[in-house]
Amino acid sequence: MKKVCIVFRSLTNNTEEIARLLSNHLSKYCEVDMFNMDGLDPSTLLQYDGILIGAFTWGNGTLHYDCHVFYKKLNRIDLRNKVVGCFGSGDYTFTNFCAAVDIFQEKVRERGGIVVLEGLKIHLAPETDECFKKCLLFSRAFVTLIGEKCESHSHKEVFLA
Ligand SMILES: Cc1cc2nc3c(=O)[nH]c(=O)nc-3n(C[C@H](O)[C@H](O)[C@H](O)COP(=O)(O)O)c2cc1C
Repeated sequence: MKKVCIVFRSLTNNTEEIARLLSNHLSKYCEVDMFNMDGLDPSTLLQYDGILIGAFTWGNGTLHYDCHVFYKKLNRIDLRNKVVGCFGSGDYTFTNFCAAVDIFQEKVRERGGIVVLEGLKIHLAPETDECFKKCLLFSRAFVTLIGEKCESHSHKEVFLA
């Protein structure tokens, strides 16, 4: 079974809720571990086939200090051949909606990671059907990308539904 980690930081739990939705779906197909960014050794990421990074946006389209600390730590690792997806919560009313997702994507690319998915950007908490669908499509695409194939028929049905 492929191993996936979800690393995130959340102040008011919106990004955490997205992380949990993704984890619930992914855990049908992969082994999933969740980590808070705070104090995490970035080399932990290298033990996984797939990596999801979740961060909320702060200031004027920037990273919150805690996310920035982790962002800088990514300079220490080589993400070549790692499939990485980025996600986060933001607020539509800000000009730079969910800019943190793009900032992390850029860093991951710089470190050689394979970012083939468009980042998942959610307005505040994932509460609407549209948001649930976006999260599901994102995690489904991610599973496909890390090459996890569903073995059981029932899984296949869920996967293709
Ligand atoms: C001071 C402040 C600045 C913010 N700046 C932005 C921003 O530039 N772009 C954006 O999309 N959201 C911005 N937000 C909204 C947060 O990203 C949003 O509330 C998000 O859901 C918080 O995620 P969390 O619950 O995971 O902490 C800002 C919020 C605050 C309080």
